[in-house]
Parts: sequence; structure tokens; C-alpha cells
Amino acid sequence: MRFSPLVCSVFCIIFVPLWLSLAGCDDGRIHEETVIRPQEGATLKLTARVSGMKSWPEKYSVVVAGFGADSDYDILSKVLPQTAADGREITLYLSGIGQEVATLELCVVNRLRKRIVSYCGMDATAAVADTLCLDAGAVDVEMYSTIQRWVFNENCVACHGRSTSAAAGLYLTEGRSYAALVGRRSAADSTQLLVAPGRAQESFLHTVLNRNGVIRHDHGDILSAKPSLLTLLDDWMDQLEEEDEME
Ligand code: HEC
Repeated sequence: MRFSPLVCSVFCIIFVPLWLSLAGCDDGRIHEETVIRPQEGATLKLTARVSGMKSWPEKYSVVVAGFGADSDYDILSKVLPQTAADGREITLYLSGIGQEVATLELCVVNRLRKRIVSYCGMDATAAVADTLCLDAGAVDVEMYSTIQRWVFNENCVACHGRSTSAAAGLYLTEGRSYAALVGRRSAADSTQLLVAPGRAQESFLHTVLNRNGVIRHDHGDILSAKPSLLTLLDDWMDQLEEEDEME
């Protein structure tokens, strides 16, 4: 069968637009069927004046997160805006907080979303309202301040400087620890730097904390139950730049 050019153009003028418009309708119906349900669970409104956020290497995130009762891995989280200037108040909403969430925390997590340290938090189980408020106030999340607080203050200063003296002459107290470590030679082995900037594995601090039998007073067990703090120290040393070296 052969179509005359007239039949052909009539076909094109009538049927092609019709087919296109039907296709358009079809497309429209799919959208109509997409029902937007209100998000389930409670919502947290966090306000905080955070400083030091940019000091963290990429594998860590400063977040507001929900945790179950027995796990260090977050159930849900939201990264704090990196762009916020230090100390400026930020407001952040975290929604979809279900029954399984026991605590809500302003904390640092790693790539696996495991909690490394937590700056402040609240109990989520006692929540009665749909909107929970957490006003964290001023929070210094700077990486080195975090190490000072959670590693040195908690585990080291009892021997290293809180009293009148410091073991090995090494002061790990606030305001002194950085200068005492970065680029400094070890008293026990003068061929070693306590912290070699950019080279955690070659730093005496790493060696001493990860292995017994290096110095008289074994340090290998002090942080062995807290591997994420050992990793945190290594990551801090690795991201230091060579210029930070002091000698
Ligand atoms: C119970 C006391 C005690 C605690 C706690 C302690 N240290 Fe020590 N540390 C010592 C003593 C004693 C020495 C002296 C070195 C030796 O035994 O040869 C030392 C030496 C060191 C050295 C070697 C210094 C050098 O110049 O060679 C480093 C590094 C060090 N400690 C880091 C730490 C860190 C980091 C912590 C916490 C995670 C810590 N220490 C906790 C007692 C302690």
C-alpha cells in the first residue's frame, strides 16, 4: 500500500502531536501518584556556635547524630555546615528521629559513621514533643583541642605534667603539649622525633603508644582499648605539614 504525500502529512499533523501529548499525560500521571508523606519521627533543632570545624581531615565529619543505646555507629546524622564562620550561631534540623534513637549528640564521626568523640548531647528517649531542642552554646571542635581533651587530659597528664613534674620532662598539658611534641627529639632515643609532621608511622609518639618494650615504662596498653583515639592521633600527625617542624 502506498500513501499519497497528502495522507502522509495529514497523519503527521494529526497523530504525531496527539501521540506526543498522550506521552506527556502519561508522564504527568506518574508525578501525581507520588505522594509526599510527612517525615516520620521527631525533629531536632540544634543551635550552636561552633569553632574549629575546618581543622578536620576529610575522613572525619562534625555532625549532629542519633545513636542507639548500645552502638557507637550513628543511626542518622547531618553534617554541620563547613561554611559557617567560627563562633557564628548556626541552626540545624535533624528529622526522622525514631524510637530506636537513644541519644542525640554533637560529635565527630569517621567515614564508617563511628563516633570518635562527643561534645554534648541529650537523651532522646524521654522526648514528649515532636521537636526537640539542643542548644549546645559555644563548642570548640578544633582537632588538636579535641586530642588535648580526649587523649592527653584523660590518659596522660596524670604523669605528664599535671603535678609539679612531668615524666620524661614531657608536658602534655593544655597549652604546652603541642610545642613539647611536634618536631621535638625523644629523651629516650635522640634519633627519634616525638612527632614527625606528616609521618605518623615514624613518630616516637606512635611507636610508644602502639607497642610495648620500647621504653622502660610500657605505654602500649594505655590506649589499646580505644583504637579510634590511636587512629585519631595518627591522622593528626599525618596531616601536619613539614613547616610545623620546630627544630
Ligand atoms: C603512669 C604514668 C604515665 C602515663 C599515664 C603516661 N606516661 Fe608517658 N611516660 C611515663 C614515664 C615514666 C616515661 C619515661 C620514659 C621511660 O620509661 O623510659 C614516659 C615517657 C613517654 C614518652 C617518651 C618521651 C621521650 O622523650 O622519649 C612519650 C612520647 C609518652 N610518655 C607519651 C605518653 C602519652 C601520649 C600518654 C597518654 C596517652 C602517656 N605517655 C601516659 C609515664 C606515663
